[in-house]
Amino acid sequence: MPGNEVTILRIGHRPERDQRVTTHVGLTARALGAKGMYLAASDKGVVQSIDDVVSRWGGNFFCLDNVKWRSSIQDWKAQGGTVVHLTMYGLNLPDVIDDVRKCENVLVVVGAEKVPGEVFGLADFNVAVTSQPHSEISSLALFLDHFFSGQELRNEFSGSRIRIIPSKAGKQTEEM
Ligand SMILES: C[S@@+](CC[C@H](N)C(=O)[O-])C[C@H]1O[C@@H](n2cnc3c(N)ncnc32)[C@H](O)[C@@H]1O
Repeated sequence: MPGNEVTILRIGHRPERDQRVTTHVGLTARALGAKGMYLAASDKGVVQSIDDVVSRWGGNFFCLDNVKWRSSIQDWKAQGGTVVHLTMYGLNLPDVIDDVRKCENVLVVVGAEKVPGEVFGLADFNVAVTSQPHSEISSLALFLDHFFSGQELRNEFSGSRIRIIPSKAGKQTEEM
């Protein structure tokens, strides 16, 4: 995937109820080729869970909490990056993915509770993964798979302490 980098911005996170889903947003992003996740809330529990996975399973995925969503988006654009907001109200993924793929530094914004209307205007692309309501995890997974054209499924994660030996049946792992 030369040149193509994707980073996630998770907004609307409520620590008392979204911890598990936000952690899964981060783990999905990591597994499917994103570079890291900014979290627009304070939640060291999410950061710790993701860092634990990275230290065991490898790669360089980062998770940073306490960012301000508005300035993160504005700074990203000021530095020449592209902002994609995943929303069921946007243009359908297959209709825009070729244009998004031409952009090298993509920040993908996913919400939790109701997303502020301002985000729609700040985004370069409002992208729907179908015009039906579902989840930030499923929409992010499909977006990343389309963005990377499925090649992310073959990614290797360097520096892992454990790795799975894919097997037809049973569980095989190797401690490094
Ligand atoms: C559970 S939804 C809540 C959305 C909220 N009710 C609203 O109106 O903004 C959480 C997030 O999942 C993502 N999402 C859900 N369905 C989607 C879809 N069909 N296409 C793209 N993103 C979607 C969006 O990023 C959304 O902010």
